[in-house]
Amino acid sequence: MHKMTRRQVIALIPSSTVLLCPAILNAQTNIDDEWADIPTNTPIGETYLVNVPEGPAEVDVSALLPGEVTIIARPTADEEYASTDMVQYIAVHHRTPAQIAYGEENDRDGTVQDPGYFVANLVCTHRGKAIGITGNPDAPFACTDRSRRHSSVFDATGLGVSGASDGEYLSIPDYQLDISDEAVVLRLS
Ligand code: FES
Repeated sequence: MHKMTRRQVIALIPSSTVLLCPAILNAQTNIDDEWADIPTNTPIGETYLVNVPEGPAEVDVSALLPGEVTIIARPTADEEYASTDMVQYIAVHHRTPAQIAYGEENDRDGTVQDPGYFVANLVCTHRGKAIGITGNPDAPFACTDRSRRHSSVFDATGLGVSGASDGEYLSIPDYQLDISDEAVVLRLS
């Protein structure tokens, strides 16, 4: 079982009760300025980072608090991840109650095994750059490429709500989530 290592949390955005109007998102987020010069081959903003070897993996994510995100980094031979240096980054987002309610209304069938946890690949649907964690509860994910004609932003269901990936969903890895009184274990195929 792999252990999580706590990272600095980037919390740029205060909580909001309004969901998913792109104009509101743009007004709330500072990432176009804050992320202007960051690398686009690796995520940013996660609470925990777990490095695992290529192949199947098990990670106990029970330390995650609502609103926090663990990122699992796993080497891969899949060319889809060429822009992230052949590393598959997988987010495990422990949703807040508001995000759970939003997910129950908006999650695509079959993409969420437990409404409290959203799991997605952090590879942009546009050109495959790394996706970062924004700290915005309404739009937790965004492409690290903030340049013109990129700048994708995604909601808590992984749906692109602005930028080049508008209307497209983050892909979902093959996984199993096992929740018990003792642990919350993510198993990656
Ligand atoms: S690669 Fe992400 S918006 Fe273009």
